[in-house]
Amino acid sequence: MRFWSRAIAGIAALSVVSLVGVVLAAPQAGSQQKAQTSDQVFKNIQVLKGIPVDDFMGTMGLMCAAVGYDCSECHTGAGTDKVDWAADTRQKVIARKMVTMVAGINRDNFSGRQVVTCWSCHHGRDRPSTTPAMETVYGPASLEMDDALVQMPGQPSAGEIIDKYIQALGGDQRLAGLKSYVAKGTSVGFGGFGGGGQVHIFAKFPDQRTMLIQFEAATGRGDEVRAYDGRTGWMMTPLAVLTDYELSGIELDGAKLDAELSFPGQIKQVLTNLRVSLPATISDLPGPSSQTSKEANGGVGQDRAVNVVQGTGPRGMLATLYFDQKSGLLVRMVRYGKTPIGRVPTQVDYSDYRDVGGIKMPFHLTFAWLDGRNSIQLSEIQTNVPIDASKFGRPVQSRVQ
Ligand code: HEC
Ligand code: HEC
Repeated sequence: MRFWSRAIAGIAALSVVSLVGVVLAAPQAGSQQKAQTSDQVFKNIQVLKGIPVDDFMGTMGLMCAAVGYDCSECHTGAGTDKVDWAADTRQKVIARKMVTMVAGINRDNFSGRQVVTCWSCHHGRDRPSTTPAMETVYGPASLEMDDALVQMPGQPSAGEIIDKYIQALGGDQRLAGLKSYVAKGTSVGFGGFGGGGQVHIFAKFPDQRTMLIQFEAATGRGDEVRAYDGRTGWMMTPLAVLTDYELSGIELDGAKLDAELSFPGQIKQVLTNLRVSLPATISDLPGPSSQTSKEANGGVGQDRAVNVVQGTGPRGMLATLYFDQKSGLLVRMVRYGKTPIGRVPTQVDYSDYRDVGGIKMPFHLTFAWLDGRNSIQLSEIQTNVPIDASKFGRPVQSRVQ
């Protein structure tokens, strides 16, 4: 709600779009539209050149989070239809210098390892603090968890934790028999924003997955799609800066990981170098009010003791899995995509596990990106049904006058 949503809500109110319905095209259609880099797509790129557009958008989310801004504080008119993303502003010019500064700090002091990021200094404020405040010195310890975790001594092995999870889901054999599923539900949104969409999820073993959110034509809001066919991925978010594009960076890796983890039987093949950190207590992300947050999370709002396992996924992407110590079930996954200015986190929370043909599947999913959140309540999951290949292909928004 904090960052883009303001911008997005503004655009939604102003736009007179007549986009309705989405067509999922045959997979080969995508090959005509090549994934592009930041400087090919945008007009005024000086320091974040030559990176996939998904990574570029990730850097914008990181900047917002680090300095506690929304887009409009660096981009005049963001949130209105008069926005000029390419125009330079005072803040944008400073931010550009900071990108160069951070790269320099890491190069000159840490042999190029990306250990200093915008967050290291800013921590959510535009002017970093300089002097320790007594409240902080004597206050409660910071709960911030490191992103890169190492194996801690005295912990159960990753194998044991994952085996317990597999067992809780229904066991190896049942999971091996799961080859596809189709799920339906509604998006609940957050704080009254982004709700009311009809959700469809298609997943096919071993690594294809599409999530489609359709909004009533009357809302004028185009459909949202995220598709991955095992090789290529697409994102379509009508109200964003880039309405649709082929994924090529961290979002492609994320889509691959999501698709693979849809079939948890293969978790030990999908993630390598598994390591177990210290157990932790996690709670649901605070919503606009705790009441709403509980509702949005399907009624489960309590703290949970979890085992924490991290593995390495596609192209070195870090993924941290949180397993409920009691039930053994996966309750959270955070994946981290690397960009030139730091790692971009994406979090998925799973709850409301129900039995579907002998396998436990989560019916409530909450997604959190740096630029927004969404919460989905599924009503129905059908397993091992045939799914047409076109469902995983490039989405095309159909326009009706
Ligand atoms: C702290 C300042 C800052 C914030 C906040 C910020 N940006 Fe940027 N943005 C930049 C900088 C700096 C560049 C230019 C990068 C370069 O020169 O390589 C840029 C460039 C862009 C461009 C490319 C424009 C063009 O055509 O050249 C887009 C699009 C963009 N930002 C979108 C966003 C969105 C969307 C948000 C909110 C999620 C956002 N930005 C938040 C600093 C910011
Ligand atoms: C080594 C610490 C450090 C890092 C790392 C750092 N900054 Fe800064 N940044 C500062 C300091 C200190 C200031 C305030 C300077 C001043 O008061 O003149 C500042 C100021 C800014 C401002 C201007 C705030 C204002 O209103 O005047 C922006 C925007 C900004 N930083 C963005 C970023 C971004 C984006 C990154 C990551 C690419 C980043 N910074 C990384 C230390 C840092």
